[in-house]
Amino acid sequence: MLSFDDDIITPAAPQPTAPQAGAAPAAPVAAAANGRVNVVDKRIINGTTDVNQLVPFKYKWAWEKYLATCANHWMPQEVNMQRDIELWKNPNGLTEDERRLVKRNLGFFVTADSLAANNIVLGTYRHITAPECRQFLLRQAFEEAIHTHAYQYIVESLGLDEGEVFNAYHEVASIRNKDEFLIPFIDALTDPNFKTGTLEADQRLLKSVIVFACIMEGLFFYVGFVQILALGRQNKMTGAAEQYQYILRDESMHCNFGIDLINTIKLENPQLWTDTFKAEIYELFKKAVELEYAYAEDTMPRGVLGLNASQFKEYLRFIANRRLQQIGLEPLFPGVTNPFPWMSEMIDLKKEKNFFETRVIEYQSGGALSWD
Ligand SMILES: [Fe+2]
Ligand SMILES: [Fe+2]
Repeated sequence: MLSFDDDIITPAAPQPTAPQAGAAPAAPVAAAANGRVNVVDKRIINGTTDVNQLVPFKYKWAWEKYLATCANHWMPQEVNMQRDIELWKNPNGLTEDERRLVKRNLGFFVTADSLAANNIVLGTYRHITAPECRQFLLRQAFEEAIHTHAYQYIVESLGLDEGEVFNAYHEVASIRNKDEFLIPFIDALTDPNFKTGTLEADQRLLKSVIVFACIMEGLFFYVGFVQILALGRQNKMTGAAEQYQYILRDESMHCNFGIDLINTIKLENPQLWTDTFKAEIYELFKKAVELEYAYAEDTMPRGVLGLNASQFKEYLRFIANRRLQQIGLEPLFPGVTNPFPWMSEMIDLKKEKNFFETRVIEYQSGGALSWD
């Protein structure tokens, strides 16, 4: 599974919060105006150092993840969709259950990454005062655009009903319920009047970051990833599967960045991590596992591709445990194991060549195609 092996920089003793820095300043604030940026003064939230000065680095893990994501750059049009198109148009190419699965799957993803992008650009970004982290978020926002592009490209290639697919998040209950769970946490940060700098506001920010990184990107995407990658493993929809493989790699990085961000905010602001707060996080994870399980049942009511909904229950519990542990909480579902060990290979694979053999161009920038 995903590893969390990045060094967390031990911060200096927590400083009193700086009320003027809630929505990050457009210009250097008073504390930094007269002097150069001192690395010990930098903070992930409520910082008072100049956000326009990337260096001196404090959060090297963020910069390194930024470099890694750039090295993994890819574009949807580089993946050949011809075999998928032929299979989809062949009346005997896929079963009705497989077609339902593909459409419901895209029905979630075509709007999910727009929600993700808007959450970053209109919400999270403003409240993060470390320029290394902002640099990653800028790259992440572009990757969310690439993902939306990839889903649109699949919809267009297959000639699906765009109105049906793009409205699924309004019209299909199992998708709408997931999005309705997320939206209050996005709205909290995108509210123009929201500012950090109080205990309550900082907890609200941290909770939104946890929901977004660990539950949306870290859990709500995984039924969908397993489904399309399972199709690819059976030599069906291999173009779509390859697109999803690249997206999975990007999302693993987003999730790991989010976890580093959460853990560093915790270190710098230990007063936020109260028992009440932790209890709220456990409740959110329980609800999220239920919602994602309902989505799994709805997308594959009879079991398909050798997958069935009860395996997904186990898998989602396994992932939830993992995410909780990554942010320093106890597992909610002790004793569960991963029913899809091949998914770890998909995430961890060091790719010399593409897995599904469909990509026209092997795009490697920076000489690296790493899955960590
Ligand atoms: Fe994405
Ligand atoms: Fe993402």
